Parts: sequence; structure tokens; C-alpha cells
Amino acid sequence: MEIIIGADYDEISKAAAAAMAKVVRDKPTAVLGLATGSTPIGMYKELIRLHRDEGLDFSQVTTFNLDEYVGLDGSHDQSYRYFMTENLFKDINVKIENTNVPAGISDDFKASCQAYEEKIRAAGGIDVQVLGIGSDGHIAFNEPSSSLASRTRLKTLTQQTIDDNARFFERPEDVPVYCVTMGVGTILEAKKLILLASGAGKTDAVADAIEGPVSSMCTASALQLHPDSAFYVDLAATGKLKMLEYYQWVQAKKSGAPAWTEPPRTEAPTDVRFIDPAADLPSSPGMTVSSVI
Ligand code: GLP
Repeated sequence: MEIIIGADYDEISKAAAAAMAKVVRDKPTAVLGLATGSTPIGMYKELIRLHRDEGLDFSQVTTFNLDEYVGLDGSHDQSYRYFMTENLFKDINVKIENTNVPAGISDDFKASCQAYEEKIRAAGGIDVQVLGIGSDGHIAFNEPSSSLASRTRLKTLTQQTIDDNARFFERPEDVPVYCVTMGVGTILEAKKLILLASGAGKTDAVADAIEGPVSSMCTASALQLHPDSAFYVDLAATGKLKMLEYYQWVQAKKSGAPAWTEPPRTEAPTDVRFIDPAADLPSSPGMTVSSVI
């Protein structure tokens, strides 16, 4: 798990966009998992700039979004499909037919959720998944008590999430109560995870996710189980991190760390990776590979 602390929102947005851009440059046919909410907007703006000024090419990319409100179709200005069009798709050269957002309207949600999972699998899986974090620690719409093995399905929002998201709707009572969301299990299958967190409202959620126990009560804590996950956190959101100084120390020491070449992945990406005892790594007790990258 990498913890990247930025001075402010702008810094983490640019750093996360650079990581996304690298995935697309390394693999022009990359499958991108995308997120909504206010936090990723800065990252999307930077991706748009990279497309416009530096030719970052999305023409062969496929995208899958995390979630959608039940009852809103793509033309509703609070639907997540609409959000993606406005904040990213219309300003880059992704083919709209290659963009996917779960259906918020369906006669058979069980079938449409299964079809979404199948489509992700058929596309070869998600290469990099962007995530925000709810104030209650949720990722996508996996509210507290969501199984860490959950798949794309219907969920009921908590009152806290409804209140948090009411700012985007005309009236609080317009916020949908139900949603469709990728499950935590679905998210953990992405090859790489990038979580963005910004602002004082996220301090508890960030601390629980990074330093708390892995628990369905804070579904972002599931990132601790992933072999390639990174938290991009601005200083304002770090207020409750006990090990903040250590994360900053790791960041400062990064350029001097021994070179590390990723072994080719042969197993499922959710498998825990153990240190190769033969590897030539510094030998502090308890030091893990992720401590030095
Ligand atoms: C919603 C979305 C999440 C997002 C969260 C936080 O609940 N489903 O994916 O992470 O909002 O949103 P914001 O970034 O606006 O705080």
C-alpha cells in the first residue's frame, strides 16, 4: 500500500492523473475504472489537459464506472453517466460506445448487474480503478456492512451518504435511496487501485481505511488487502493519521530506495504477496516491500 501525501487538492489530483496517464501510455487499450463524486474532478481536468496539450490518447481505452443511482437515467443531471460525460468524456477522445456505467433503470437488476460483471471480465478486467471515499469510509457505494467479497448489486444508501450527496440535488428528498454499485470484491480484482481523498471531512475515513482494521464497517480498508493500491491524500485529510510522519519519510526517501522490479503477475491480483526472503532488501524487522516503494 502506498500513501502519497500532497500539499493540497491540486497536487494529489495531478499526481493521480500522472499515474493514470502512465497506465494509458503503457497500454493504449487499457481498461479504466472510473469514479464520480467531487474529489476526482481535479484529476479528470488534468487528464483532459494531458489529452489536449500532450496528446494523451484515449481512443482505444474502455471504461467502467463504479456506480449509479437507481431511478436516474443518463440524461438526468445528477446521474453518474451525465457526470462522466460532463467532467471527462466530452473533452477526451474516448469512444462513447466503449464507456460503461451501471444501469440505474432496469427491469431486472440482478441480470443487469451480472451482465456488468461479465462485461468487465470480457474486457480483460480493470487495469486501474480510481476511487473516492465517502465520509463513512465507503468506496463506490459499498456502505458499512457491505461484504468485502461483494459483487455488483443493488444497495441501500445510508442516511449519512444521502445527506452528504444532498448538496448536488435541488431538494434533499430528491436524493435516491437505492443505487447499483460494483462490489468490494469486484473492485479488489482491478490490477491497480488509486484512491483520492481530500479535505477535513475525510480525516476519520482516511485514518480508518489506512490504519484501522480491515473491516466491512469501512470498506476502503479493503485496499489493505490489495497488492497494488495507493492512497493520494491531501494534508487537510491527514489529521487523524498516526503514522503521517512515517509516510512522509517514506516519500522523501523514495528516490534512494533500491530498485524493485515487479515480478510478472501469475496469480489472481487479490493474492497476498509475500517478501522473497532471497531478495536483497534492507533488513529491518517487519519491513515489507511496500515500505520501501
Ligand atoms: C459517492 C460516490 C463515491 C464517492 C463519494 C465521495 O458516494 N458513490 O464513489 O467516493 O460519493 O464523494 P466526494 O468525492 O464528493 O466526497
